[in-house]
Amino acid sequence: AQRCREIKIVLLGDSGVGKSSIAQRYVTDTFRPHGESTIGASFMSKMIVNNGSPCKCQIWDTAGQEKYHSLAPMYYRGAAAAILVYDMTKKSSFEKLQKWVDELKERGPEGIVLCVAANKCDLEEGREVEVAEGAEFAQKSGADFFETSAKNDENVGRIFTTLVTNVQRK
Ligand code: GTP
Ligand code: MG
Repeated sequence: AQRCREIKIVLLGDSGVGKSSIAQRYVTDTFRPHGESTIGASFMSKMIVNNGSPCKCQIWDTAGQEKYHSLAPMYYRGAAAAILVYDMTKKSSFEKLQKWVDELKERGPEGIVLCVAANKCDLEEGREVEVAEGAEFAQKSGADFFETSAKNDENVGRIFTTLVTNVQRK
């Protein structure tokens, strides 16, 4: 196992899926029901103590709007891990993730650790993507998989501890 003092994590996915909300829930344990769409990118950091070793998570929250797509490489460059987020009530946001996986394979850091977050799982009545579909996509992509809710704080912390564990294990 490798100790790391810092780990760069990038959040990727369509606009509106809840990337900023996941970062905000994790870092400040708050939720804004009407948060603003991210411009460019934003950055947050948080110390995590994993299996006794402290590690600083540097979280780059990218902007999902298409006009910012060309900026993404600046943020995934040098990243140890990526969180690929879709909104489980919006099939199109799930379909978009394949493109991110392909792009990371082609141009991303070698050996980047991946995790798929099916966000907004508090909105079960609006579900458009079955758990099995999400899990299968994650498995094919070599990623861990969690259904998350930034709103209800479900599985948000687990994403980060899992990523840090997987990075430290490498
Ligand atoms: P961009 O910055 O445009 O890429 O979007 P984003 O992925 O950062 O989405 P953001 O976090 O701004 O969330 C979009 C909307 O979804 C906001 O109104 C949030 O309050 C809402 N939202 C985020 N996460 C959840 C969740 O887990 N459950 C519910 N019900 N709403 C959520
Ligand atoms: Mg955002």
